[in-house]
Amino acid sequence: MDRKNKPSPLPTSPSLPQPTIDLTDNVLTAHLPSGDSVTVHLYGATVTSWKTANGAEKLFLSTAAALDGSKPIRGGIPLVFPVFGPPPKDHTTSKLPQHGFARNNYWEFLGKSSTESTDRKADDSVKLDFGLSSGMLDEATKAKWPFEFGLVYSVTLGKGKLECGLHVQNKGSEAFEFQCLFHTYLAIKDIKKTTISGLESAQYIDKVRNAQTFTEESNAITCTGETDRVYTPKDDSPLTVTEGGKSSFVVTRDALPNVTVWNGWEDKIKGMGDFEPKDGWLRYLCIEPGSVNSWTKLEGGDAWEGSATFESKL
Ligand code: BG6
Repeated sequence: MDRKNKPSPLPTSPSLPQPTIDLTDNVLTAHLPSGDSVTVHLYGATVTSWKTANGAEKLFLSTAAALDGSKPIRGGIPLVFPVFGPPPKDHTTSKLPQHGFARNNYWEFLGKSSTESTDRKADDSVKLDFGLSSGMLDEATKAKWPFEFGLVYSVTLGKGKLECGLHVQNKGSEAFEFQCLFHTYLAIKDIKKTTISGLESAQYIDKVRNAQTFTEESNAITCTGETDRVYTPKDDSPLTVTEGGKSSFVVTRDALPNVTVWNGWEDKIKGMGDFEPKDGWLRYLCIEPGSVNSWTKLEGGDAWEGSATFESKL
C-alpha cells in the first residue's frame, strides 16, 4: 500500500575525493586528490619522493641509491636516531653505526588518517604512521643499544606541504639518551644560486673547520664549497630557501633546536659510491632539522616528540 506521508529519501552528498594509498613490496605511495604525492620505503621509513600537485619532485634521490635494504637510502629523508654522526666513544650509542639504526631497519606501516578541508571539496591531507620498536630489531642491534623503546614516525602530506613528526617512547624502566634528525635532501636547481635565510646570528659548529663554533653573520647563506654545519637558531623562526631570487622552500620546526646544513660538494660526492649522477651535488641541499647538539634524556615510561614542516613555495 502506498503511504500518504511517505518520507522523502535523504539527499545524498556526492562522495568526496579521498587520498589513495598503495603499499606494494615495502613501498608506500599516497596521493591526495589535489595531485600531491609522497613515497615512503618501509626500509628506514625513508621518504624517497615528495611531489606537489604540478608533479614537481621536491626531494633529491640519488639514482644509485640502494633501494633493496642493503644500506641506508641516499637521498629523500633518511631518519637519524638515536645518534647523529659518528657515535662518541664514551656514550651508550658508541657501538652503533653513523646516524644510528632507524634508517637501516624495516619499519611497519601503522595506518593512515586524513583531514577534510573546511569547504568539504576534498580531503586536505593524509597522515601516514610508521612504527619501529626494540622488539623489531635483530639481536646484534639490540645488544649495541639495549633499551626498550617505541618510535612512531608520522609523515603528513598536505597541499604543497610535508610534515615529519617523531614520537619517541621509553618503554623500559631504565633512562636512555638519544638524538634525532630528519636528514632532508631538498631538490634544488643550482646550489650556486641558492641561499638560506633565517639563521642570522645563530651559533654553528662547522665540521669542515675542525668543529669550531662560529656565529652566523649572513641572512643569505650561500654554499661555496663543502658545507657541513650544525646550527642552533635562537628561536623557532622559519628558514627560507631562495633559488634565483625566489623563495622555494620554507622550513619550520617544533621542539627541534638544531638545523644541519650539508652539501658535500664536488670532490666528496665523487667519492660516494651510492651518489649519482656525479654532478648531483649541484642539485641538492640538505636542510636537516633535529635535536643533535646535546642528548635528550628519557626516563622510563616517558615520551618526547618533535616535528618539522617543509613547504614548497614554487
Ligand atoms: C650529514 C652530516 O648530516 O650527513 C655529514 O652532517 C655527513 O657529516 C652526511 O657526511 C652524510 O652522512 P652519510 O652517513 O649518509 O653518508
